[in-house]
Amino acid sequence: MEEVRYLPNDVICNCKQVTMADIDNALHSHKTFSDVQKEFEEVQRLTACSTGCGGCHDKIMAVISSIISG
Ligand code: FES
Repeated sequence: MEEVRYLPNDVICNCKQVTMADIDNALHSHKTFSDVQKEFEEVQRLTACSTGCGGCHDKIMAVISSIISG
């Protein structure tokens, strides 16, 4: 999979102004990662990302999968 690299202040979800750092923090608020879809739902619950137009969904999924796969 293509590597996704963003800086902490890069806004990943424009509608909700959720940054890379917000997603990273939300992911690391718990210790064990499960699958990407579950993590997406958790990050969405914590940050409200991807609850506007939904256009960032794939980008967020890619970001999460790159973080949890290290
Ligand atoms: S850019 Fe994330 S919901 Fe619209």
